[in-house]
Amino acid sequence: MHVLVLGGTTEGRRVAELLCGGPSALGAGTVVVPGLRVTSSLAGRVAAPRTPPGDVRIGGFGGTDGMVRWLCTHRVDVLIDATHPFAGTISCHAAEAAARAHVPLLALRRPGWVATSGDDWHRTASLAGAAALLPALGRRVFLTTGRTGLAAFAALDDLWFLVRSVDRPEPPCPPRMQVLLDRGPFTLDGERELLRRHRIDVLVTKDSGGAATAAKLTACRAAGVPVVMVDRPPLPDGVPAVATAEEAVEWVRCARTAMP
Ligand SMILES: NC(=O)c1ccc[n+]([C@@H]2O[C@H](COP(=O)([O-])OP(=O)(O)OC[C@H]3O[C@@H](n4cnc5c(N)ncnc54)[C@H](OP(=O)(O)O)[C@@H]3O)[C@@H](O)[C@H]2O)c1
Repeated sequence: MHVLVLGGTTEGRRVAELLCGGPSALGAGTVVVPGLRVTSSLAGRVAAPRTPPGDVRIGGFGGTDGMVRWLCTHRVDVLIDATHPFAGTISCHAAEAAARAHVPLLALRRPGWVATSGDDWHRTASLAGAAALLPALGRRVFLTTGRTGLAAFAALDDLWFLVRSVDRPEPPCPPRMQVLLDRGPFTLDGERELLRRHRIDVLVTKDSGGAATAAKLTACRAAGVPVVMVDRPPLPDGVPAVATAEEAVEWVRCARTAMP
């Protein structure tokens, strides 16, 4: 049985680890589901990706048609879309390609973040919406929406930006900006110190969910810093979804049992 995992996320790597039964899974050498071939697909955006166990392919498929071809040529039996909640294009391609190639598809989406008492969150549907909210909220912005899409903030020449991303952003960017190249997980102490040192008075983040990058929200709550939260795009219609890698593995196990 060939499982293709569309990854580039902590969850995608975790699924591959569990399915391959590597050292960080349920114990060294454990085979969670017997008779599997696992391929993880990465977009190739990050210069030095953390590669998961099993086979790895890197780069786009060439749209929906290319993904259909890949699924058929490589005899993929089940497809798991474990891409980032904001990677909307690949998720749409996966839904269409899986339907056309008659390959069962499961989406793995970590739950979004939920505001608690003391949070001052401003929800918006897009990066452009976030840019429109900023001038009324602060002057020194901590921008953690990733290295793409900075064009949305490029006209805000009155504001200063601390941009944190894994790889260096490409122009167009805000004119007054400092780049901090870093990759999570981030600690609460570290995030507090960052807010303090750069005198941050507003944070912009996507509603990515997950623990690895949640400390910035706790730090903002404690410091009374408002947060502009960009909402996720919806999943394609009709795609079943689970919230954890363990549930995805269970889905694969059921699919394996159902196979002739
Ligand atoms: N968006 C984020 O905030 C974010 C954050 C962390 C990680 N990531 C990861 O980074 C990758 C790219 O994100 P994005 O927002 O640029 O995606 P996107 O806009 O949904 O996808 C753009 C194109 O990139 C290719 N692609 C994306 N994910 C791929 C994958 N896992 N394997 C092979 N090709 C892939 C596809 O090219 P073709 O049409 O040629 O197939 C797709 O049409 C995703 O895999 C995602 O999990 C994204």
